[in-house]
Amino acid sequence: MAIIIDGKKIAQDIRMEIRDKALELKAKTEIVPGLAVILVGEDPASKIYVGRKEDACKDAGFVSREYRLPADVYESELTDIIGDLNLDNGIHGILVQLPLPGHINPDTIIEAIDPRKDVDGFHPYNIGRLFYGNPYHRACTPMGILELLDRSGVEIEGKEAVIVGRSNIVGKPLALMLLARHATVTVCHTRTKNLAEVTGRAELLISAAGRPEMITGDMVRDGAVVIDVGMNRLGSGKLVGDVAFHEVSEIASYITPVPGGVGPMTIAMLLKNTLNAAHLIATQGCNCSPQR
Ligand code: GUN
Repeated sequence: MAIIIDGKKIAQDIRMEIRDKALELKAKTEIVPGLAVILVGEDPASKIYVGRKEDACKDAGFVSREYRLPADVYESELTDIIGDLNLDNGIHGILVQLPLPGHINPDTIIEAIDPRKDVDGFHPYNIGRLFYGNPYHRACTPMGILELLDRSGVEIEGKEAVIVGRSNIVGKPLALMLLARHATVTVCHTRTKNLAEVTGRAELLISAAGRPEMITGDMVRDGAVVIDVGMNRLGSGKLVGDVAFHEVSEIASYITPVPGGVGPMTIAMLLKNTLNAAHLIATQGCNCSPQR
């Protein structure tokens, strides 16, 4: 029977550590980390996520500034707001909740953010620097996965890691982060042939496919560490992961539950990035125009 990795508890511990570090930063420099969260439109799930991010900021003693814009806002209004926030001394992190309405190009919006304030780690400059190994900020969900592994005492170096899913937010940045930690990495996706054969080799199996309970016991190697990034709402309203938990927990050595696994870590990492952004701007002593 696998050890269940308690992401809720680990995230709570990290949030308390960040709160203490923010107090230290304030005592030394008078700087209070500030996060601007921009929500466009009325998507119910996005409203819930944004509300949680704002609450987490306040709990950590950060400044949280909220922008709620109508779904028909012009792209140029949004880039103007971001331009102002890039120059705002009280704001160290800028987060635009995705997805955006269809008339707004998300690439234009992400690229308008100063990379030093890009606490989502989505700016191509940060992705490029991740490629070389030293971004200002890393994407929060993959970062949260590494933190869960580290705090559970799971070795990464030299491990056979298999990722199911190749999104820009999870699969692709996670592959780079695991490579940087010296894992041997395979990325699977919808066109992968013999998926079970590939996942069956994994000592470290991470699923971010968004398909309810698709990873079944027969796809998992004995003693594998299994990380479930899936958040799938069934017709019944029940939230399930990508992993068939009951079956796989009999085979794995460690497993994350859904809910209460990776999910809470994403917000904890957003706070970590925002605190780092405040440190970065404090140590560089500047407001920074976008780097190209
Ligand atoms: N929408 C779903 N996940 C995310 C995220 O991590 N960041 C942003 N900005 N939007 C999202």
